[in-house]
Amino acid sequence: ALERTFSIIKPDATRRNITGKIISKLEEGGLRVVASKRIRMTKDQAEGFYAVHKDRPFFGELVEFMMSEPVVVQVLEGENAIAKNREIMGATNPAEAAPGTIRAEFAESIGENSVHGSDGPDTAAQEIEFFFSKDEIVG
Ligand code: CMP
Repeated sequence: ALERTFSIIKPDATRRNITGKIISKLEEGGLRVVASKRIRMTKDQAEGFYAVHKDRPFFGELVEFMMSEPVVVQVLEGENAIAKNREIMGATNPAEAAPGTIRAEFAESIGENSVHGSDGPDTAAQEIEFFFSKDEIVG
């Protein structure tokens, strides 16, 4: 089915000026960028977005990292976009990511792993709504 998913190009990637390389991988994999903005995440946004991880030992580090440099938040559309995006990204830990995936090619560590992608339909809908209003998404 035609789906939408939510993506973040993280600070380690904006710092290295490789947002285009990452978007090329997404497009070559069959996904279409239907909304995009470059933002500096506030503390409220970073804590709110990652609230599900608030009891994890790495939460503070994760929030500081996401606020450390600009990020690019996007809505991606395509057939089975949620699973497809996860496939194109590769495993969370770059050491375990399949060859050719974004994280295998670009990620620096499990924390500084270049991209975020929604893990299922419910989180995709929530995450899209967290950063985008309806009129900002142009399919
Ligand atoms: P993401 O898909 O954005 O969702 C939660 C993030 O937490 C994850 O990607 C990682 O970047 C980060 N994360 C997961 N495990 C660790 C860890 N052990 N140390 C630091 N960050 C982590």
